[in-house]
Formats: sequence, C-alpha cells, structure tokens
Amino acid sequence: SVNLEEELYRPNYHFTPKANWMNDPNGMFYYNGVYHLYFQYYPDGNVWGPMHWGHAKSKDLISWEEQPIAIYPDSIGLIFSGGAVVDKNNTSGFGKDGKTPIVAMYTYHNMDGEKAKRLDFQTQAIAYSLDEGQTFEKYTQNPVIKNPGIKDFRDPKVIWDTAREQWVMVLAAGQKIMFYSSKNLKDWKLISEFGDGVGAHGGVWECPDLFPMTIEGTNEQKWVLIVSINPGGPNGGSATQYFIGDFDGKTFKLDATFTKQLKEHNAVWLDYGRDNYAGVTWSNIPEADGRKLFIGWMSNWDYARDVPTETWRSTMTIARELKLKKQDDGYQLVSMPVSELDKYTSKTIRVDSLKVDQNKVIVSSNDVNLSKLRVKLELNNLKDKKYTFLFQNKQGDSLSFGIDNKEKYYFLDRTKSGQVKFSEKFAPKISKVLRDNIAKDITIEVLMDKTSIEVFFNEGETVITELFFPNKPFETLSIQTSDETLLVENIKVEEFQFN
Ligand code: FRU
Repeated sequence: SVNLEEELYRPNYHFTPKANWMNDPNGMFYYNGVYHLYFQYYPDGNVWGPMHWGHAKSKDLISWEEQPIAIYPDSIGLIFSGGAVVDKNNTSGFGKDGKTPIVAMYTYHNMDGEKAKRLDFQTQAIAYSLDEGQTFEKYTQNPVIKNPGIKDFRDPKVIWDTAREQWVMVLAAGQKIMFYSSKNLKDWKLISEFGDGVGAHGGVWECPDLFPMTIEGTNEQKWVLIVSINPGGPNGGSATQYFIGDFDGKTFKLDATFTKQLKEHNAVWLDYGRDNYAGVTWSNIPEADGRKLFIGWMSNWDYARDVPTETWRSTMTIARELKLKKQDDGYQLVSMPVSELDKYTSKTIRVDSLKVDQNKVIVSSNDVNLSKLRVKLELNNLKDKKYTFLFQNKQGDSLSFGIDNKEKYYFLDRTKSGQVKFSEKFAPKISKVLRDNIAKDITIEVLMDKTSIEVFFNEGETVITELFFPNKPFETLSIQTSDETLLVENIKVEEFQFN
C-alpha cells in the first residue's frame, strides 16, 4: 500500500530524517571520504522538543544515510546547535592510540529552577569522537564556557585560524556575535564582539559562521561572517544575512565597500526566500578541493511546526558551494548547488531557443518528472516587462517565480501552490527581491523537488529557496510574458534519478 504522505511529500533528493522533527544543520565536517551532517533532532515527536544531535553521512553531499543519534541530552541540559572540527594535531589531548579526535562544540540549554530567571540557562560545551564522528564522549569538565548572564547565548562554530595557529569560535549572544579563541578547544578567551548598529536586527541572532574566502579572480582574501536572524528576514520570519570584512585573529572589521552596501540595503542576505535558515559550512574540506560547502535548514520558524507532513518534519536545502565575488556594486556571496548533483542526471532535454508568444510550455510531465528536476536557461535582452515561470497542475495549484523588470524585482509566488492554509504565516504574500540593477541578460537555474524550489539567478547572485505543498505533483512548467520578442535560450532540462 502506498502512503499518500510519502508519495506526495517525502523529498526525492533533499535530506529529511526518516521520522520526527529536525531543525538546524550542526557540526558538519569532512573526514576520510565522508561528509558528516548532524542536525537538531527531536526523536520522540514531529514538533520541536528536547534537542539531540541527529546524524547523517554522505560520500557526495547528495545521497545521505541517516545514522544513530550522535549526542543525547543529559543532566546539564539539552543539546542545541554548534559545530565540529577535526583536531588533527590533538590540541585537545582527547586523541588516543593514534586516533584523531573529532571535537564537537554545542550549547547546553537548561531552564530548570532559578536558571530561567537568572537568564544563564545556555552554556557552551564540548564532546569528542574517536570513531570518526559515529559516537561522542562528553568532556567531564563541561561546560567550557559559562553564561555571563545573557539570555540568548548559543550556537558556537569553531574554525582553525591558520595564520595565528589558534582555534577561533563565534557564537550568537542576543543580537551580537562574540568571538573567542583557544589553543586546546577547552579553555576559551573572549576576544571581541561584533554587531552593534550593523545589519538586520529584527530578531535574535543565531547560528553564526566565520571563514576566510578568496575573492573570485583575485588573490585577495576577505572574511565572511554569516549570521542567521529570527524573525526579521527580508520576506518574513527566519533568514540568513552575511557580512564581509577582515579578521586579524581578534577583531572582525567590516570592509569599507561592504559598509556602503549596508548603508544602501540595511542588510545583505544569503538567500531571499523564506526557507533557508541556520545554514553553516563544512569544516576540514581538503585544500585540494578548496570549496566552501554550505547547507541550510529548509524551513522557517514562522510555520516550521505546522507544515503538512506528519511522519517527519523538515528538510535541508541542497548542499551548496559558496563563492565570493566583487563587482561594481559590491560583494556578493553567491551560492550554487554542488557539482556532485550532476552525476544524478538520468535524462536531458536541450532546446537552443524557444520563441515565447505570451505563454509557452517549456516542459511537461509527459517529458520528465517535475519533482526531481533541474532547469537551466537564459533570458536575453530583457525589456521593461514581467517574465513569469509557472508550475501548474490540473488541480489548479500554481507556483511561480521570475523577474518583474518594470517594477525591478525578482519574485517567488507560492500563494496558490496547494496546501497553504495550515499557517497564516506560510503564504500571505509574494516573496520579492528588489533590485535596481537587474542585468539585461539573466541566467536561471532551478531545482525542483516534491516540496521545494531553489531558484538561482545569475549563477547564484540572487537565490530564493521556498517550500510548497501541492495537492498533486506539478504537470507543466511554462513561461508567460508580454514581451513578444522574447527568446528563451540554451534551455537544459535535467531529470534526476536516485535509488
Ligand atoms: C536556530 C535555533 C538555535 C538553537 C536551536 C535550538 O534555529 O534557535 O539558535 O541552538 O535552534 O533547536
């Protein structure tokens, strides 16, 4: 017998736990040919509850195998978000018998007794693994960082600072980021703070990440600080902003060009859609690979607990490669799906050029399965008109995205995409990205799964990621525009095959 929920909504290729609740990605690292992904997990229910670190492994960032729970709550508290590093030089001393320790750092959350009133219910702790991330032993001297009396004090992310030969850790404290350093992952020193008066402050700051990146096409290095915020996202609820600057081993200083960008836009976002939150990057990616790899939680605290799945709740975004670009109008942290996805293509349809007369079907379910699909295409010589791509089914559900080049915005519209009424916050309006500098020639890449769409405009310069829950799978993808001279060019439609 076919389970209707599984059939309609279990993603074809985005990670979701077999059962129960998931939120933030945690502790991602690469070791010995395996990518590890941990995640905020409540194994006893399909809404948020006492947090554990669930675990999944992959050899290619696409096919994930869920593992036994890696870290359980204990008498000190629940296990909130954090990061993990491979301690190659055994700086922590946790290594034994030549085994390399993997050290996870996470937040303990415990509101028992007076702690809730004193606001010091979140502390930082470590645990180590001597079996390549499968099981963790908690450090006996936890917590390693006590709470200084800050209500929201969480989500440590550790990196190895090569230039200074030190561990650096960032965590979110209220609406600031606190920077710490350590030589052994056990003793931490507060070195600086960042965040007053810059960026978006519509909600609490969470899940930061810090790393250096080389600007594409140059040898110049800049530091990227990622900060998730909830609420206060550009289209409502949770979202992830970033800052570009320099880091001298102690202080993060905003770049002058980026400061100008912030003056213009208030905040700069990694993803303008409603469903990419708490994302961070993998540690210990080999130098020979050199990529910055990212994954986010594909949901939003506005309605995460209400989405119409029962067995499991929540999905991750596709794993993405980040790049740092600098153009006339400033920096852009661009993201694109990892190239490992390419090898799952089982069917390709190419159309060099498609003339669009008001409305044209690009591809239909007679040709490919629209729920495991990638579409790449180009729109050239855009006029001051609107260009709408539309997924539809016979039930009347529709999901659209595109460019309004008259009003100057990119958009994604799920307001009529099927089940939307489970939360009044899910689809009250169209998500928009205002842009006064939309180029004349645009490339678009779209990833479709059963319940998610990820749209990458211009090689990931503007990204919109959102969920949707159609009553039946979509059957056609078409384009609509009043620009009668439009040619859609270099169309490549790929259907994926996963076992
Ligand atoms: C972000 C977050 C984190 C916290 C975790 C708890 O979504 O609120 O700040 O550690 O979720 O599950």
